[in-house]
Amino acid sequence: MKATSDWKQMKKEGEKITMVTAYDYPSAKQSEAAGMDTILVGDSLGMTVLGYASTVQVTMDDMIHHARAVRRGAPDTYVVVDMPFGTYHGNVDDSVQNALDLYQATDANAIKLEGAGCIDIIRRAVAAGVPVVAHLGLTPQSVGVTGFRMQASDEAAAMQLIQDAKAVESAGASMLVLEAIPSDLAEKVTAVLGIPTIGIGAGVNVDGQVLVYHDVLQYGTERLPKFVRPYADFNTAGVQGLKSYVAAVKAGEFPDESTTYKRKVFEE
Ligand code: KIV
Repeated sequence: MKATSDWKQMKKEGEKITMVTAYDYPSAKQSEAAGMDTILVGDSLGMTVLGYASTVQVTMDDMIHHARAVRRGAPDTYVVVDMPFGTYHGNVDDSVQNALDLYQATDANAIKLEGAGCIDIIRRAVAAGVPVVAHLGLTPQSVGVTGFRMQASDEAAAMQLIQDAKAVESAGASMLVLEAIPSDLAEKVTAVLGIPTIGIGAGVNVDGQVLVYHDVLQYGTERLPKFVRPYADFNTAGVQGLKSYVAAVKAGEFPDESTTYKRKVFEE
């Protein structure tokens, strides 16, 4: 498993960090086999695998269930797990306890929190030994308020984001996800921080990139965000494969000799 300190070294050396979401054993296995630097068990699983309209319905039990499967599929990859909506928005003691519980229950390498309102939780979780990844810009757990759109597009919001990025780094975050912000702002944030920035819709001048597994491979997705480039088409391949199976069963071509058990016949 990679040590957390590798990330800062990769940033220093200018080696881009790759991250993809994974939510189950096979997607984790594929990600590890592909040489992904790190896997995010994102609460986007609410939309991609559970069919909710947002991440808000995702529970702690959901995250633990999926993250354990990912860990089994990718035992040698650095795994980050999202804290779900509502588990770090109450009092700080409960939030820190939830962070510790999630980290312990999933055997992940780090937890991830959204927004700039959780500086104390980051500080205390890190002090307790839990590596924390921060997430600024578009934070999907807040889309009820912000909508799914680019963030920090005016000067004041851009300045605020730079301050927030410095604050999460000072609190001890080991990486920062920057989502859906102007690329020049992402570049500035990347330049002022010692920790790596991982962009999603933040342009190329960041330290790494993260995309959602189902978007990269077009798996169950209908519409892709502007910042996604798909690298495979599982939708077409999957439906085509299932159609061929239906046709073969209907035609009596499946099963055939090669896929049928036979009783041993003993000579008298
Ligand atoms: O849950 C998720 O998939 C995420 C990514 C969008 C970074 O947080």
